[in-house]
Amino acid sequence: MRKRIQYTFISLLIAVCAVTVFTSATETTHGVSLMQDQTVQAIKLSDPRLDSDMSIEEALLKRRSTRKYRGTPLTSAEVSQLLWAAQGMTDPRGFRTAPSAGALYPLEVYLVAGSVDGIPAGIYRYITQRHEIANRVQGDKRAELRDAALGQEQIKQAAAVVVISAFPERTTGKYRDRGIRYVHMEAGHAAQNVYLQATALGLGTVVIGAFNDDAIRRILQMPDREQPLYLMPVGR
Ligand SMILES: Cc1cc2nc3c(=O)[nH]c(=O)nc-3n(C[C@H](O)[C@H](O)[C@H](O)COP(=O)(O)O)c2cc1C
Repeated sequence: MRKRIQYTFISLLIAVCAVTVFTSATETTHGVSLMQDQTVQAIKLSDPRLDSDMSIEEALLKRRSTRKYRGTPLTSAEVSQLLWAAQGMTDPRGFRTAPSAGALYPLEVYLVAGSVDGIPAGIYRYITQRHEIANRVQGDKRAELRDAALGQEQIKQAAAVVVISAFPERTTGKYRDRGIRYVHMEAGHAAQNVYLQATALGLGTVVIGAFNDDAIRRILQMPDREQPLYLMPVGR
């Protein structure tokens, strides 16, 4: 009798899982696929371009911190390119656009979308392995982010903000205290990639290190052990 109840319970569980998977709808808006179910919303980003109208030398020459943007939205293709530049996967073995001590990859990258064609305003975590973004918070959070960063207005004015954070334990587990400096170096690598990619796309950005850690954690729903490191507002 007990076994029978167990079997019934397991069958019911499998049925519920199957229904959840099969009711997930896929639709396409502005070139991005929205894969929805009741609990998560993942947006598959378009493949990054692997060429450019601007040479790396020209991008290095033209890179400048920019704090004033026109109000026009970013395209989802531009967002795809920026996130890929930050932490995109470039090798089936898992290696990425930015180097990482011991290939331990302590960084996380988020998109705070305000005005991006085809991507509803909200906070999204970048999933490197699938080149997707997963929704974490809904609604426009740029004003809250600005307030958490000493009122730096460029954050509110930007179409979107790329946030770079880290779980230092992924690196300190192997490298102990020295791992902390490695994590900070890695944030610099990722941020410079975003700077250069933004320049090549004709966009402007700036790294922002002046903010209240706890306020940023609260807005992005980060656990205490996750360390926010850089905010990068991006606009045209
Ligand atoms: C670690 C770090 C933190 C920074 N924090 C801020 C910041 O909070 N707000 C800001 O507007 N710029 C910030 N910047 C950008 C610098 O002001 C900028 O890089 C500097 O003025 C040189 O200009 P450039 O980037 O155009 O060469 C920061 C830069 C670094 C490297």
